[in-house]
Amino acid sequence: MTPPQHGSFEQRGQNAPAGNRQVEGRFGFMFKDLDPFSPPDELLRSLAATMQQPAPNPVTQFDNPDTPAGYTFFGQFVDHDLTFDPVSQLGKEQDPKGLKNFRTPVYDLDSVYAGGPRVTPRLYDGAKLRLDHHDGLEDLPRKDDGAADIGDPRNEENAIIHQLQIAFIKFHNAVVDHVAASGTPAGELFAEAQQLALRHYQWAVLTDFVPRICGQDVVDSVLKKATGNAPIRADLRSYKPKKVPFMPVEFSVAAYRFGHSQIRPGYKLTDTTGGVFFQPEASETNLNGFRPLHPSRLLHWQHFFDIPGSTTVPQRSMRIDSKISFPLFHLPFGGPPASLAERNLLRGKALRLPSGQAVARAMGFQPLSNAALGMSDDQGWDGQAPLWFYVLKEAELQHGGTRLGEVGALIVAETLVGLLAQNRDTFFRLDPGWKPVPPIAASEGTFGVGDLLAFATRS
Ligand code: HEM
Repeated sequence: MTPPQHGSFEQRGQNAPAGNRQVEGRFGFMFKDLDPFSPPDELLRSLAATMQQPAPNPVTQFDNPDTPAGYTFFGQFVDHDLTFDPVSQLGKEQDPKGLKNFRTPVYDLDSVYAGGPRVTPRLYDGAKLRLDHHDGLEDLPRKDDGAADIGDPRNEENAIIHQLQIAFIKFHNAVVDHVAASGTPAGELFAEAQQLALRHYQWAVLTDFVPRICGQDVVDSVLKKATGNAPIRADLRSYKPKKVPFMPVEFSVAAYRFGHSQIRPGYKLTDTTGGVFFQPEASETNLNGFRPLHPSRLLHWQHFFDIPGSTTVPQRSMRIDSKISFPLFHLPFGGPPASLAERNLLRGKALRLPSGQAVARAMGFQPLSNAALGMSDDQGWDGQAPLWFYVLKEAELQHGGTRLGEVGALIVAETLVGLLAQNRDTFFRLDPGWKPVPPIAASEGTFGVGDLLAFATRS
């Protein structure tokens, strides 16, 4: 089978002309008046090379004490729910308005539900999503060519997001049982369960994931408190869609790729098993994806999240900093370059991102100089840094890599909270007073990713 390619940039060419930065498509600019930053490719490649952590890593030194390792993959999962650019080409400047976002920038879990039971009935068994079995384990349904039959093929890209996809399917199915037990008629089960599952997911993003990454203070500065039954609103300084919500390239091509620095070179899966994250060739003991689940890659969630009732302390994610784990310099899919750091930096240039300092200034922050960021004084930088690198180094300098710094946090919080506020179908608009309650939540108003997994896997 030919595995689907994550971020497969040469799959389809797109000759979008560089044009007006004011226009919004599904992708658009948050900072429409800033100039693109276009340093020479050679400089970007040499910066990428400095970002590799030595192998083998002195792992614990780079551990983020505040964040269990599973949030890296929850972050990747949220990314796949909201954004996908399979068409832009590296080495060619591109206008984001000409890019199509193949995911809706909406928290609708289209990566899990695909088209729903009417449009994609093969993925469903009544109101429930279908799971198959492989090697005695519950696994994703597969097509004839062996590829997982799921809403977003990227959710099988590594063994951990693969199992998160299974967990979300099980969460939906557990919610179906829950609403059925409360007497919901069969014909309404799917819609009722889907709405409830989506609200819990959105709640976990808002109250567990975003504060952990950006800081509760930044989330509070972006959220406007609801009064009565009025929709919850966001106070957005930089992300201001003109008509419909779009995916800002400053988020998808730079700030939100902070997650790449959280990835560990390897993971403990259970009390007795572990695996190297990626290797050029798939083996039983590495976590390369796009293949059926195998007992050697089966994980226990208590090693990834704080799970209610478990005393296991989960391994940590890596700090958000300018160092990237060595397996990500040898990606086992897509065309060259095999280095994710190099791809991110070249992609930022191809999509005509402004520099980190320009964005900091536009947000009203005092920019960090290239010397402070530890960059070379090569004239080609023109005293500026690529936005992705700036966001990573800023997190390192301002918070020791435990969370994003001021520029990165505001881009991420404004986008993630802004999309919740601007989409018509979230509880922000539909039911602003809604709160998760037991038995799905541990207690009223408390629901994080650990609770979601506990409910999904309850027997
Ligand atoms: C866990 C393993 C991960 C791998 C192997 C991975 C790999 C990749 C690759 C190869 C690309 C395309 C790069 C390019 O050519 O431009 C990409 C894009 C991206 N990644 Fe990751 N990634 C991972 C995790 C994450 C995490 C944890 C986050 C955020 C929390 C993240 C955020 C993104 C974003 C926002 C994009 C752009 C998506 C789009 O619009 O197409 N990734 N990733």
